[in-house]
Amino acid sequence: MNSVAADFEQAVKPTTDFLPLNGTDYVELYVGNSKQAAHFFQTAFGFQPLAYAGLETGLRDRESYVLVQDKIRLVLTSPLKGDTEIGRHIDKHGDGIKVVALWVDDAQYSFEETVRRGAKPYFEPVVEEDAFGKVVRSGIHTYGDTVHIFVERSQYKGVFLPGFKSWNPAYRPAEIGLKYVDHMVGNVGWNEMLPWVNFYANVMGFNQLVSFDDKDISTDYTALMSKVMSNGNGRIKFPINEPAEGKKKSQIEEYLDFYGGAGVQHIAVATDNIIETVTELQNRGIEFLRVPSTYYDDLLSRVGHIDEDLAPLRKLGILVDRDDEGYLLQIFTKPIMPRPTLFFEIIQRKGAKSFGKGNFKALFEAIEREQELRGTL
Ligand code: FE2
Repeated sequence: MNSVAADFEQAVKPTTDFLPLNGTDYVELYVGNSKQAAHFFQTAFGFQPLAYAGLETGLRDRESYVLVQDKIRLVLTSPLKGDTEIGRHIDKHGDGIKVVALWVDDAQYSFEETVRRGAKPYFEPVVEEDAFGKVVRSGIHTYGDTVHIFVERSQYKGVFLPGFKSWNPAYRPAEIGLKYVDHMVGNVGWNEMLPWVNFYANVMGFNQLVSFDDKDISTDYTALMSKVMSNGNGRIKFPINEPAEGKKKSQIEEYLDFYGGAGVQHIAVATDNIIETVTELQNRGIEFLRVPSTYYDDLLSRVGHIDEDLAPLRKLGILVDRDDEGYLLQIFTKPIMPRPTLFFEIIQRKGAKSFGKGNFKALFEAIEREQELRGTL
């Protein structure tokens, strides 16, 4: 084997996990109105108040609310004055995800190792301390203006991060059963999928998940290409999409136009009871993409036996797909921002490790109907 082939082999199948990740630490959105966004995520998604930083904690330029539901932490940040980096991010992208923070044992090593392998630094390792201990954080850039922040918190007992105080409002709508981030999908531009697949392989030590979803990536409707990158222990999964030529304008292109470039397209959050979770979300006003009711007519002949009754799935619009290892139930919200950019997926896995390829056609037709209404097809 010549050295180029050996290098390639090394790149796609790293033998050791040089970047151990314990999980998603937090997801930070830059938004126009963090106070109202926090209210929305409490009211509609059942996130619980956790922490706050802003004028009352000594910040003068920004304010952040931190919300939690089981293992998911959301940070909602707004600028408190004009002409800030956060404000410019919102002007360019609309409300969107800035930070996908990753929980590590060693933030300094994670920074040095990824930068040595080609990552562009966002910020150098910094130690933050308060009465509850210390946290080390560092950051690198990924696609678009999105960044990864490495968080080392083994010596910290505080509510979130140094500088935040606990946030305890009386208003606390109940949780809705969201457990953890199952995967987060990035949309990147034309011909950018492979460079970013290589970034996650070579710089972050991820492997490409060869799954059911890869078998056939283009139909009349998909008009996108997608590869799934997963870290060594499988806790972090990042599918990456790029637009493809289709009959109509790709939904990925629509996203790129409105977001102003590459960014996070959706966060998939796991539940143990999708029927209860989605019932609650719909009661609280969240709107979902709907497939035609004919989808359910031959569902069981497509996916075989499932534990759930068909009636509530049909009523709620929950989709089902099967792979070699089991099945999954999923549903997608409409975009939660004014721009047709970020949305959420609710997913319940029953053995399946794939991402719902069998639902793409029905889903894409549903998205195209929405695009038609927006005049962006
Ligand atoms: Fe997804």
